Amino acid sequence: MTASYPNLRLRRTRAHGWSRAMFRETVMTPADLIWPLFIIEGQGEEQPVASLPGVSRWSVDGIVARAKEAVELGIPCIALFPNTPGEKRSEDGAEAYNPDNLMCRAIRAIRDACGSDIGILTDVALDPYTSHGQDGLLDDSGYVTNDDTVAVLVDQAVTQAEAGADIIAPSDMMDGRVHAIRRALEMNGHPNVQIMAYAAKYASAFYGPFRDAVGSGGLLKGDKKTYQMDPANGDEALREIALDIAEGADSVMVKPGLAYLDIIWRAKERFGVPVFAYQVSGEYALIEAGAAAGVAAREALVMEKLTAFKRAGCSGVLTYHAPLAARLLNG
Ligand code: PBG
Repeated sequence: MTASYPNLRLRRTRAHGWSRAMFRETVMTPADLIWPLFIIEGQGEEQPVASLPGVSRWSVDGIVARAKEAVELGIPCIALFPNTPGEKRSEDGAEAYNPDNLMCRAIRAIRDACGSDIGILTDVALDPYTSHGQDGLLDDSGYVTNDDTVAVLVDQAVTQAEAGADIIAPSDMMDGRVHAIRRALEMNGHPNVQIMAYAAKYASAFYGPFRDAVGSGGLLKGDKKTYQMDPANGDEALREIALDIAEGADSVMVKPGLAYLDIIWRAKERFGVPVFAYQVSGEYALIEAGAAAGVAAREALVMEKLTAFKRAGCSGVLTYHAPLAARLLNG
């Protein structure tokens, strides 16, 4: 209590649970969650991902079961990532636009089982399909080319849309790909297929467990710094986001999540568009490691972090904790 404002007690509204509930500014619901899932070949297969405790790769039947679980939990959307068998990976990543690839088979199976009860978000980038683990095509010097890569990404996006994807999510960071994909979707009869652009995606140290999960980590030589952003840059992120909006993105993503809350906030303030965060694999793994080390209860760590994204301005969060968070929110 200060002398000049004797009656101003900000603790007053915090004194009771009912009051804290009434004054709570940010409320999470399961509809704020997008659940990333990893697909493998086979039938009845579940492979735990060693670097992501509690996360597994599932064969298509298991993915369908997860999609049904998402519907039951009130999670509106799942994000799919294939672990392509080694023999189908190639220098040019051509498996990416094979209409019978793992991704497309999973999309069709989910659609058959769940109809339009669930949104299917698909990743557009070549890294799960290339023998070198880069997101695009390499020239002779090993540089990831832009325009040639975009042409392939367009084929990949249209192939996914034909299989039944609802949201195309380019994660490759090539210039001009949102416009090219939007144009191709319109021309191929998919005007209502959305684009969620990984608009500000950083060259981050937090992607390691994901690369294990899709099997690109061991293949990747070097890094992705010639296309993913420098973690030191914020103004440049706003330029990336402005461009993707102008090119036709329905929503934009900031990735990774927690270390980039300032970017989320600035994007929301500046553009007023739907912004999503990807709480990436390394962030998940660190929460799990922290919980296992006794830093705090897993549930508390998970909900505090997810709430921070929403408070910063997110419309939703891609998180491997989606089913746990949804269960907690559903009580
Ligand atoms: C690749 C892609 C990555 C992730 C999503 N799409 C990794 C990368 O850029 O190397 C990372 C997701 C995560 O770490 O959970 N196009």
